[in-house]
Amino acid sequence: MPMNAEPLDPSDVALLLDRWEAMSERYLPGRPRLVDHLLAELRSLDSDLAILDLGCGPASLLAAIATELPRASLIGIDNDPVLVALGRRNLDRFAGRADIVDSAIDPGWSVHVCANGPFDAVVAMLVLHYFPAADWPAMLEEIRSVLRPGGLLAVIDVVDEAGGEILHAADDHAGPTWTQWWDLAASIGGRAWPDAFAARAARSVPESAEHHPSLSELTSLLDRAGFDTVTVAARSGPAYLMIARTAARST
Ligand SMILES: C[S@@+](CC[C@H](N)C(=O)[O-])C[C@H]1O[C@@H](n2cnc3c(N)ncnc32)[C@H](O)[C@@H]1O
Repeated sequence: MPMNAEPLDPSDVALLLDRWEAMSERYLPGRPRLVDHLLAELRSLDSDLAILDLGCGPASLLAAIATELPRASLIGIDNDPVLVALGRRNLDRFAGRADIVDSAIDPGWSVHVCANGPFDAVVAMLVLHYFPAADWPAMLEEIRSVLRPGGLLAVIDVVDEAGGEILHAADDHAGPTWTQWWDLAASIGGRAWPDAFAARAARSVPESAEHHPSLSELTSLLDRAGFDTVTVAARSGPAYLMIARTAARST
């Protein structure tokens, strides 16, 4: 911690995480229900899972998985310094089995997490749409390459049913907007994480490409990336949970 930084009170951490969830549901309608479906899928696999969260943000999904699966080992990857700082605080209580790698998800990103893999599951919630269409084939292949035989990729995201209007679809939602959440984060977290905010300002944090393939386009992409089975496990309006599995090793 920098010399003049003030530690963030647990109640402030809890407030930021609570507001993050409320903000995220504005953009991902039915988020809690989709997460519950995902947790049920993961519970059905095993208890000693190795799980990677791509673009984990403040690690709310990682924390939910760690709570649900007390023997799972978890790693997230993200390169927003403020979200990484908040996410690491969120994962404090799971020390030794959950952490975050501060790294861009650029081609070759898997080298940063290979020591934690191969993985039984990779989860990507509200993240893949950050990447332009041209990046998806290689991204999905790289995800498949870090999965064990029979492993699964869970994508939670939204389809663009409203012709690019997704981000305004929930204007009446009670949660904060993205900008309001960041204002709150700066007012609460700015003194605790001055270095992270400075790094965020200096670093080009990812801008979303807002690429939202249809479910059939995504199914084809996953198929072409070498996944064996692809299913839409749950829907909530424009939001979906898609599960793609790699082929189990033949005996
Ligand atoms: C909308 S947030 C979702 C965070 C988290 N999955 C959740 O649902 O709470 C998108 C996340 O993806 C991360 N992200 C986007 N593009 C990235 C990239 N190229 N490298 C690393 N992280 C990236 C952002 O920093 C951010 O934390």
